[in-house]
Amino acid sequence: QLRAAITGVQGYVPDYVLTNDELATIVDTSDEWITSRTGIKERRILKGEEKGTSVMVTEALKGLLEKTNTHPDEVEVVICATVTGDSIFPDTANVAAYKAGIRKAFGFDVNAACSGFLYALTVGAKFIEAGQHKKVIVVGADKMSSIIDYTDRTTCVIFGDGCGAVMLEPADDGTGFIDYRHYGDGSGEEYLYLVAGGSRRPATVDTVMSREHFVRQNGRPVFKAAVTGMSDVVTEVMERNGLTTDTVDWLVPHQANIRIIQTVSKMVDFPLDKVMVNIHRYGNTTAGTLPLCLWDYEPQLKRGDNLILTAFGGGFTWGALYLKW
Ligand code: ACO
Repeated sequence: QLRAAITGVQGYVPDYVLTNDELATIVDTSDEWITSRTGIKERRILKGEEKGTSVMVTEALKGLLEKTNTHPDEVEVVICATVTGDSIFPDTANVAAYKAGIRKAFGFDVNAACSGFLYALTVGAKFIEAGQHKKVIVVGADKMSSIIDYTDRTTCVIFGDGCGAVMLEPADDGTGFIDYRHYGDGSGEEYLYLVAGGSRRPATVDTVMSREHFVRQNGRPVFKAAVTGMSDVVTEVMERNGLTTDTVDWLVPHQANIRIIQTVSKMVDFPLDKVMVNIHRYGNTTAGTLPLCLWDYEPQLKRGDNLILTAFGGGFTWGALYLKW
């Protein structure tokens, strides 16, 4: 059976490290509060004027091409999951692909907030499984600092900037993408959203003055929905595939909050030493968290390892995906 296997992974995070202590000089918070409530110690911030998400994506693409020894002309599709593209249009996938020297691919963005990479990976895998494409790159990238209100302590401590990219290629050796279940529920809009800047409420002087182009979140309901959504869908995917916590080697959860990760792991009965965690270093990079986890843990991954990836995010969107490394 033809499957889509991940044959390379490359991350990129900006150099600037925003620590909890530095945040405590900007808003009324503390390292102790942030660490105990979220597990986050520091996050990366992309500094510099006119530097959008494509700057990070370009670096990840260049690194991935080099690492996988791929000529840019071999790449056929580039899919970028992001909610912070350089602009509403054009998409960031094509802009970054061009900057990375890719000339013969088509690309597009996927907007599913924190579940973006999971959804995009599913789409990318379908192009391979259909037998029509042999090299598909899937990116998860967000410059969350561009839509975060650094006077709102309830959101600014959580998010950071970063991205990661994976190469998908056909495999017939049993490795690759095996199954997924994804969900969406638009009623979640009221808990996590950006008011202005879209077609419903285009940006004006008024919307800027009232800070409507920044993320707004009601943290508690999001927390609860994330825990329930991810643990239910992980259980569903494991049951569908006859998997147990013994036969799954790694759980790769979206990095939103260490308490969400711990609660989900407990609910699906996963020992924490089989759960990928790097939230302490990057915070929540939205579509970036899953590929950044794979990048960080790559040295520990063995061919044939069973991985369950799961995410929950704005929309609401959520899902889980089973692949053999
Ligand atoms: N520093 C200090 N105090 C703070 C801070 C802060 N950064 N933020 C909030 N507080 C205060 C609140 O004002 C409140 O004070 P009050 O009791 O005097 O009113 C108190 O801390 C408790 O606030 P809660 O919101 O109840 O704190 P909670 O334990 O729920 O933690 C948090 C808040 C971290 C946002 C949590 O709800 C959460 O992680 N929710 C999930 C959100 C999330 O991960 N979103 C990401 C996008 S979706 C996703 O990725 C899953």
